[in-house]
Amino acid sequence: MVGATGAVGSTILGVMRERSFAADEIVPFASERSAGRTIDYGATDLTVVPLSDETIQGFDLALFSAGSAISGEWAPRFADAGATVVDNSSRWRMEDDVPLVVAEVNPEALAGHRGIVANPNCTTMQTVVALKPILAAAGIERVVMSSYQAVSGTGQKAVDELYSQAEAVIEARELPAPTVYPHQIAFNVLPQVETFKDGDDYTTEERKCMRETSKILGRDDIGVSATCARVPVFTGHSVSANVQTRDPLSPEECRDLLASSPGLTMIDDPANGLYPTALDAAGRDDVLVGRIRRDPSHERCLNLWIVGNNLRKGAATNAVQLAELLHVRGLLGAARA
Ligand SMILES: NC(=O)c1ccc[n+]([C@@H]2O[C@H](COP(=O)([O-])OP(=O)(O)OC[C@H]3O[C@@H](n4cnc5c(N)ncnc54)[C@H](OP(=O)(O)O)[C@@H]3O)[C@@H](O)[C@H]2O)c1
Repeated sequence: MVGATGAVGSTILGVMRERSFAADEIVPFASERSAGRTIDYGATDLTVVPLSDETIQGFDLALFSAGSAISGEWAPRFADAGATVVDNSSRWRMEDDVPLVVAEVNPEALAGHRGIVANPNCTTMQTVVALKPILAAAGIERVVMSSYQAVSGTGQKAVDELYSQAEAVIEARELPAPTVYPHQIAFNVLPQVETFKDGDDYTTEERKCMRETSKILGRDDIGVSATCARVPVFTGHSVSANVQTRDPLSPEECRDLLASSPGLTMIDDPANGLYPTALDAAGRDDVLVGRIRRDPSHERCLNLWIVGNNLRKGAATNAVQLAELLHVRGLLGAARA
């Protein structure tokens, strides 16, 4: 487990414990700063180890959540040493020989791995869990998605920044200067998630949502347009998706379809105030869907509200699900060609 002390890494270890993940030994890797620290793992304490050519030997599986730079350098080294890597960063996701897999959506893609499997972007992950059954039942021509993303998606420092800014506002103190985000996040909404790279007018997060959706669904012909916003929520991403189907699909049919699809829970009784909120996703692995309704401007468009826990299904839970699938399907330790 590389990045074991981080927001995603500690959630991965928690999910592994909850699911009684079968492993002879679990070794937590992090930076030199954390080396020697102990992590509570139920009956045992795990001791954090730094990455080196010696410490990475002898593993069947390596779960990575330490950012793109570390994955870029160390994932191939783990794979060369015989491990199958499940990587949470964006470093390998769009490589042709790296499967990008959501457990409920395209598990068959795991069979093509050559040592590295990529775990998708959190916002994309929760959205495709809802899109896949619609694609299978009625086809999809176009998706317009708008996200409202929690600060824990940026990591622990962003959680601390929201907390300290909110405290300062409530106590009428001068706000500390933002260091993680370009503007104040407390009591604000920022139409920027990640960066505007190389003069692009879409952010890197929006590009991930658009490209990764096509790769996971295996369809280049679906138009995807994304706008991603950061909101002052600690955990739980919300997505408003406008889905244009190829064949007619009523809101009732869509509701029945999604209610019986894997990984999804329907909360859709708006007249009684029932719809998914970010807080509802706390501690949950399923993706929550509600507010399913006809788009009055287009007869084959539906609007959906999709909520997911960015640290769990959006990262840790899917990574552990992929590890379990790799094990069950005899795909662990397959060598790089
Ligand atoms: N947060 C989310 O919702 C989310 C969702 C999907 C994917 N992801 C992706 O998952 C990755 C981790 O995100 P996060 O939010 O967990 O970040 P984080 O809280 O900042 O944790 C980063 C982890 O990487 C470790 N690390 C840093 N430098 C290292 C080095 N030189 N060698 C070994 N380990 C090192 C850190 O160890 P130290 O504690 O020792 O510094 C820490 O364990 C990122 O690629 C992110 O994009 C995050």
